[in-house]
Amino acid sequence: MLDWSDRHYRYFMRQITTQTELYSEMIVADAILHGNREKLLAYSESEKPLAVQLGGSDPQKLSIASKICEDYGYSAINLNVGCPSDRVKSGNFGACLMREPNLVADCIQAMRGSVSIPVTLKHRIGLDYEDSYNALLKFVESIAKIGCVDFIVHARNAILKGLSPKQNREVPPLKYNFVYQLKKDLPQLNIMINGGIKTVEEIQEHLHHVDGVMLGREAYYNPYLFSNFDELFFSELNNDSNYVTKTRKQIAKSMINYLEIMALKDIPLHHITRHMIGLYHGCANAKLWRHTLTQDIIKSNNIKTYIDLMDKMEN
Ligand SMILES: Cc1cc2nc3c(=O)[nH]c(=O)nc-3n(C[C@H](O)[C@H](O)[C@H](O)COP(=O)(O)O)c2cc1C
Repeated sequence: MLDWSDRHYRYFMRQITTQTELYSEMIVADAILHGNREKLLAYSESEKPLAVQLGGSDPQKLSIASKICEDYGYSAINLNVGCPSDRVKSGNFGACLMREPNLVADCIQAMRGSVSIPVTLKHRIGLDYEDSYNALLKFVESIAKIGCVDFIVHARNAILKGLSPKQNREVPPLKYNFVYQLKKDLPQLNIMINGGIKTVEEIQEHLHHVDGVMLGREAYYNPYLFSNFDELFFSELNNDSNYVTKTRKQIAKSMINYLEIMALKDIPLHHITRHMIGLYHGCANAKLWRHTLTQDIIKSNNIKTYIDLMDKMEN
């Protein structure tokens, strides 16, 4: 998620769940080719499994960018054709590419051709006011034909004219049944569902119908929701019953070392702590936590402000 799932946020999430796959922000292929690669792609080893998400519509550029990402050690590469923002639209990528399934297939094919890690696709159930399930099925079939097996489906349309990106995450109705039907019609594919999912119970219900669940906003606003995900969703899969659920305070403490390391690299502390505001979501002293992590830390940029806060926080 742009501006949210940067390396600091992901490192923080890894203190909460070790098994859940994490995703980078969308990175435009051109930026990887011509920009500051280290700044865009560097991460901590502990963030894995970690997928990098690319934006673009030029097969050759995407193929080169994919190879660079594979060399960086990412676990998977995801192509974003679900983003409705104007900036993305004017670059002819993101959700508008759903109108061009052949081009998407060319992109995925070129990306798959240059790497051996999985190349996956994130998309919407439709564009604008298209409401036919068959159009979605055809779109996915045309990409699956070239060997793509992993699809993450945001279960609402993208409306390219008249709605902001934020509205595009709220206004078009969620149609989970379209995603369930995809899995029924194409059972050989891994279908992951996304959009409006907020609770363990909802995740468990979706997992009766599809192969995986992606959480966006709730993972940011309420990260502690993930605290028992290793045990809940991965112990059987990995035949490992030793996953531990940390308390909020243990998680907060486990960030001290990282904050110290980043301070030595002159990274302002609030660049990291701003992603941790949600840890005490719904708790008694959430306000104190939020205030210290934003206001006080910005003022002091001193790790002591954070360490002193530990004494005042509940478990
Ligand atoms: C701040 C923000 C940035 C986002 N950036 C991206 C992005 O870079 N790539 C992407 O595929 N989706 C992005 N999204 C969309 C989410 O991944 C997700 O598809 C959407 O929010 C619906 O899921 P949710 O209801 O669980 O949040 C972003 C969402 C938010 C709130």
